[in-house]
Amino acid sequence: MAQPVIAIDGPAASGKSTVAGLLAARLGVPYINTGNMYRAITRYALDSGTDLDTRCTDKIFTPLLNTLQLEYRKNISGTYKLYVNGVPEDNRLRSPEVAAYSSRVAALPAVRNWLKARQRGFAALGLIVMEGRDIGTVIFPDAAFKFFLTATPEERARRRLVQAGETFDGATLESVARDIADRDRLDSTRAIAPLKPAADAETVDTTKMTIDETVDYLAGRINDGRS
Ligand code: DC
Repeated sequence: MAQPVIAIDGPAASGKSTVAGLLAARLGVPYINTGNMYRAITRYALDSGTDLDTRCTDKIFTPLLNTLQLEYRKNISGTYKLYVNGVPEDNRLRSPEVAAYSSRVAALPAVRNWLKARQRGFAALGLIVMEGRDIGTVIFPDAAFKFFLTATPEERARRRLVQAGETFDGATLESVARDIADRDRLDSTRAIAPLKPAADAETVDTTKMTIDETVDYLAGRINDGRS
């Protein structure tokens, strides 16, 4: 039986988070951003003094994960917010340093296994929008709806550049495009749960679409699928 999940996967800076959040709000269902969970683990490792250039290994992360608690709590507005050891996540998760290292952290089997169990647990919430890289392929292969959002590398670099605080000082369209290409390469070539569309996902190229048009399109497809 299909799981009550709307899976939205896709490469870095494809607009997934914005679209997934708005879609969930429109449908009145929880939205879970799984990229933030990888970012939170990365931030936690950096804050614990881990040198991620030399010590990004399962052996280093296993004890770290034993001291980490990640949970999504529902706030008064009804949306779910990520708490890291009891503290609400903040925009330090969005820093370019965290983004760059998170692709390496996300390749570790210990990290992916630890998150897989937790992410699957969200099915207990009923219908949810869940966004990431492997939701339709690994976390919920039986999701009721699966979308893979893409846009050209140029358009994704442009979108990332206008997101305040998400690029290094002095970043240019070229440097952002390079950083995104590096992350895409790491995400799509790793041994476990690589970034790729599920065989039964609908790929949506958003290069020429506005955010609202994309949300309208997905909501329409979901309505069609339910009727
Ligand atoms: O979507 P994002 O940029 O916040 O994701 C941060 C990193 O986490 C990204 O480089 C890939 C990884 N990730 C993943 O491997 N699997 C997911 N389901 C979500 C994110």
